[in-house]
Amino acid sequence: MRNVIAQNQEWIDQTWAKLEHKLSKVTVKSRNKLPYTTIDGVHDDKSEDYVTWWTNGFWGGLNWLMYLGTGNEEYKKTAERSEELLDGAFSIYTQLNHDVGFMWHLVSGANYRITGNPSSCTRNLFAAASLFARYNLDGEYIRAWNGGDERAGYSIIDCLMNLSLLYWASEEIGDDRFKKIAISHMNMALRDHIRPDGSVNHIVNHEIEKVGVKEVLAGQGYAADSCWSRGLAWAVYGCMISYIHVGKEEYLEAAKRTANYFIEHCKKTDYLPVVDFGAPEEPVLYDSTAGVCTACGLLELAKYVSKEDAQMYTQEAINILKACDERFCNYEDDEDALVLMGTVRYPKNEIAWKEVHIPIIYGDFFFVEAMLKLKGNEFFIW
Ligand code: GLY
Repeated sequence: MRNVIAQNQEWIDQTWAKLEHKLSKVTVKSRNKLPYTTIDGVHDDKSEDYVTWWTNGFWGGLNWLMYLGTGNEEYKKTAERSEELLDGAFSIYTQLNHDVGFMWHLVSGANYRITGNPSSCTRNLFAAASLFARYNLDGEYIRAWNGGDERAGYSIIDCLMNLSLLYWASEEIGDDRFKKIAISHMNMALRDHIRPDGSVNHIVNHEIEKVGVKEVLAGQGYAADSCWSRGLAWAVYGCMISYIHVGKEEYLEAAKRTANYFIEHCKKTDYLPVVDFGAPEEPVLYDSTAGVCTACGLLELAKYVSKEDAQMYTQEAINILKACDERFCNYEDDEDALVLMGTVRYPKNEIAWKEVHIPIIYGDFFFVEAMLKLKGNEFFIW
């Protein structure tokens, strides 16, 4: 892994310097916001009208990572402010869903692990308890979203990323019950979401009173049997998260299988991932966020494989990040976002087309996380 990094050291240092230059200003400017995207170059603010929105932890998490990478207290102040703003979400319980890991583990979980702040530990434990409570005992899955019976059987591949919150809670309180639920959900994903060729199902609708699959749904992808690239990214990194916390070989094997599928398909478009690897070739619709999330998963994967494979996965992560840097990143002061060209879902209606090729906060988060890993920082935020 180090050889490939050494060969790319100049690019890594230059890219970090550029992003740090930009973010040192944006962190102050957007301190009192929970940004999701930008409008005319300016961060929007979900703390105003949607404090329970699932992406509200990424800005705080990004600022903790920048603090670790620079020691600059301005990032710490913004991360702490994010945590205060997020407190409003705890009082709207019915809007909380499976994404409480994204929301709190990256902010309160990071704060507690970095500073030892006991209030942050309490917040993260509350979030873990709410995720724990979504487990369907008979169907053996963590239920996605809220709503009526029509969604009661849904599990989604994205949720693998939230399992880190449960692993942390068990490690923190010395009680395996959270971890056991995370493992059960992960095993379900191996069986019902991850296909033999390494591609994934986004939504699986389960039987709710016994273990079983009723149907597979397209979700944010092109079709039920295609492969939504960000869903695949959640699988690559999600399998690694479970492998790191549990150490089961099947999880590492699934991480490799999904990673290889991603790499094989992403290469075809010069390492700029399209929204769905099984969609028609035209129109060409990119999703930068799928690439940067996968790059983080590949850099973790590289730590647990043979030397030869480690070089290969590190090089592929760098290929994705370089393509993103060259084609999708904006380092200018008149745009608050760093990574442009994210896409929420494969567009099938007018509203969805408005969320094609836009900046999305988790694109910035994963780009920063990947660059920090390449700089040799060992903190594992998940
Ligand atoms: N977890 C929702 C998404 O990836 O858009």
